[in-house]
Amino acid sequence: MPILEKETSRDRDSQVLPKVPVPPLKQTLDTYLKCVQHLIKEEQFKKTKAIVEKFGAPGGVGELLQKKLLERRDKTTNWVYDYWLEDMYLNNRLALPVNSSPVMVFPKQTFRDHNDARRFAARLIRGVLDYKALIDARALPVDFARGQLAGTPLCMEQYYRLFTSYRYPGLKTDTLKVQMNAASSAPEHIIVACKNQFFVLDVVANSKQLNETEISSQLEKIMKMAENAEERLPPVGILTSDGRTEWAQARDVLTKDLTNRDSLALIESCLCVVCLDEPCGLEPRDTTRALLMLHGGGREKNGANRWYDKSMQFVIGMDGVCGVVCEHSPFEGIVLVQCSEYVMKYMTGSPSKMARASVRELPPPRRLLWKCNPHIQGLIAGSGDRLKRLVNNLDMDVFTFKDYGKEFIKKQKMSPDAFIQVALQLAFYKCRGRLVSTYESASIRRFQQGRVDNIRSATPEALAFVRSMTDERATFTDAEKIKRLRDAINAQTNYTIAAITGMAIDNHLLGLLKIAKDLNMEKPEIFCDETFLASNQFILSTSQVPTTVEMFCCYGPVAPNGYGACYNPQSGHIIFCVSSFWENTETSSAVFVKALNEGLQEIRDLCNRSSAMAPKPANSGQGAGQPHKSGK
Ligand code: COA
Repeated sequence: MPILEKETSRDRDSQVLPKVPVPPLKQTLDTYLKCVQHLIKEEQFKKTKAIVEKFGAPGGVGELLQKKLLERRDKTTNWVYDYWLEDMYLNNRLALPVNSSPVMVFPKQTFRDHNDARRFAARLIRGVLDYKALIDARALPVDFARGQLAGTPLCMEQYYRLFTSYRYPGLKTDTLKVQMNAASSAPEHIIVACKNQFFVLDVVANSKQLNETEISSQLEKIMKMAENAEERLPPVGILTSDGRTEWAQARDVLTKDLTNRDSLALIESCLCVVCLDEPCGLEPRDTTRALLMLHGGGREKNGANRWYDKSMQFVIGMDGVCGVVCEHSPFEGIVLVQCSEYVMKYMTGSPSKMARASVRELPPPRRLLWKCNPHIQGLIAGSGDRLKRLVNNLDMDVFTFKDYGKEFIKKQKMSPDAFIQVALQLAFYKCRGRLVSTYESASIRRFQQGRVDNIRSATPEALAFVRSMTDERATFTDAEKIKRLRDAINAQTNYTIAAITGMAIDNHLLGLLKIAKDLNMEKPEIFCDETFLASNQFILSTSQVPTTVEMFCCYGPVAPNGYGACYNPQSGHIIFCVSSFWENTETSSAVFVKALNEGLQEIRDLCNRSSAMAPKPANSGQGAGQPHKSGK
């Protein structure tokens, strides 16, 4: 296979990546002040500045914590990993659907009947098994950074968690368990959800993996078994869609019974879940498919045909609504994309092996059994009600901006990602007349066990630019506006470079906070300050998740009054998935999308007018937002 000729993760394992650095204390504190100053009132800023200065003073608390953090860095592979995992995911009590689990939405499939859908599912499962074999053999080609600072090898660890992780709910905090001994001889199985019933599909029989035809025939048996209304069991899966504490409590009740414990153990040790969804009778537009992938449409539709704790759930709707739901704690969206694209390419690239394959006589898949007393039935009903509220609350708008894409932006000698971030700031400003604390995920996979840090995109330079673009008195000339645009893009690009090289502030501040807690110290004032608390409420939560195959990623907002904005830049267009909550009267995804569309056009017009005016330079190499080093 050509894939094996490239450098693989097995080769890479022996070459250790650098550890995530701990930035200098003063640098982080100065950046923190710079990030918040223009977003808060002057009085509040003065107070915050005094607190920060005291924290960072020679011989102060900051120095002590920094010293301890540096010691931790020496002792651990990645000083921030556990802190970050708990803070970002495991301590969060909110329900996984919408609030945490991102999804990939596949193009709408056309199935003539259930058999077509079943064959599609069988093929998909084969693709997944193929991909898993590459992971197990450590034969995946190593990822290399693209875009800014291109060319560096990236940490591959997240891939090993794709099919080996399970997130257990806890009363106070969840636990992410990863089975690292994937080569163990334990039989491998997938859980198939169909009509809210769960079935064990063994993918190995007599030491040999099932072929596509065998999988398809097993799926046929599952679909028949699920049809049988008399044997139908309560929709236990809906419990996993609840708040984490509620689900942990319900799980405690469930596990009192041996049958339930056995069923749970099988789900918790599966490779992945495959959800065969019922048709939902809705027009399958992009937005509708995104919604259905994010929450399954609630109890009445496919909301109970899920098991949200499991990292990878492949959804195949009988009506062609397909995609992947991912539990986010083990890996980032980029890894999810790689896996999804591999499976899609497998499905469309190679001819089906159905016709030629021999079929063995296999024992039928087993239905998982549940003993549900009235108490559990009540808990299921409660979870269903809360999921319904979540379903009714999600305001989603998938918008494909078709006027231009990455290529136009590159021609302006600007970083496409920075440009889009500035456009998102403009859209927010148009909607709310101010900027807010913004999160953009930046990969730190250049480092051992690297996950992400935050690019704080609401820069002072972005504020200056959006003010110039929205000034009603039209006091700003094009020359001034384009200068401000370039300054904003420069600031954004520089922050990106700082973040991907481990020099951003969010992980560092979190580390200082957590180490103080580890030392049983009183919480330092800097972390009790209202500025700090507000700066960690990400009203705008953004992420670039690009794809090379037709599909898109989306997720929900992370604040009740916020927006989630996931974007997928392509050469000639950009897909934006904007989410917010209907219950909040300040937000509206449609209004945001309208502002975004307007803003993107206004920026393009500004760029075009400015290039028409500009004298043609012999070499404009040092334009704003130049990448440090191009991958080309
Ligand atoms: N002029 C011309 N071209 C430029 C340019 C400039 N000034 N600046 C950048 N470019 C080019 C790049 O060379 C690159 O080219 P390529 O498409 O051939 O690779 C392209 O534009 C994209 O670069 P850019 O837009 O600057 O972004 P990036 O690819 O470096 O991405 C991040 C920036 C922050 C998104 C990325 O570093 C990252 O961290 N991604 C992971 C995000 C993540 O984790 N998402 C999932 C969360 S669940």
